[in-house]
Amino acid sequence: MKIVLLGYMGSGKSTVAKALSVRLNLPYRDLDQEIEKFLGASVAEIFNQKGEIFYRKTESKFLHELLEYKEDFVLSLGGGTPCYGMNMKFIEQTEGVRSVYLKANVAELTSRLIKGQDQRPLIAGRSEEDLMEFIGKHLFERMPFYERANHLVLISGKSVEQLVEEITALF
Ligand code: S3P
Repeated sequence: MKIVLLGYMGSGKSTVAKALSVRLNLPYRDLDQEIEKFLGASVAEIFNQKGEIFYRKTESKFLHELLEYKEDFVLSLGGGTPCYGMNMKFIEQTEGVRSVYLKANVAELTSRLIKGQDQRPLIAGRSEEDLMEFIGKHLFERMPFYERANHLVLISGKSVEQLVEEITALF
């Protein structure tokens, strides 16, 4: 089985996916990292130099390639991956893929994302107040995509270990 973790930026997808892969003894893959490795540039550089549309097309292409692999793995998506093109439909329709939405509230996401904004081009340079308003609206738009995941896990107040146990029990 391929397990796909999705959710807003700052919801802990990469950290939880890495720990889950160790627990399940499966390889760990990270969609953003695959793109960065292939293009030899960070996500922020790709956005700045080639633009978001180029990034979204690349993201979709890599998602398709990864999910078509024979091997199983735990995959962490970028926060926007389920919301562009037909990506969520592809995730839903690919055999052997189970998706998990790591759900966090706006206040939590804001406090996690206020640090390290520079690596995330969509939120770079925003004040805390502005960031909270942006996340509130953005999450509202994205929620219908995230909620199509096979499972929803609330992350609030839980350690990585607790989340790994909770997700493991789903399968
Ligand atoms: C994005 C989230 C980022 C990265 C890019 C766009 C988004 O991934 O893919 O900056 O649209 O939410 P993380 O969710 O890992 O930060």
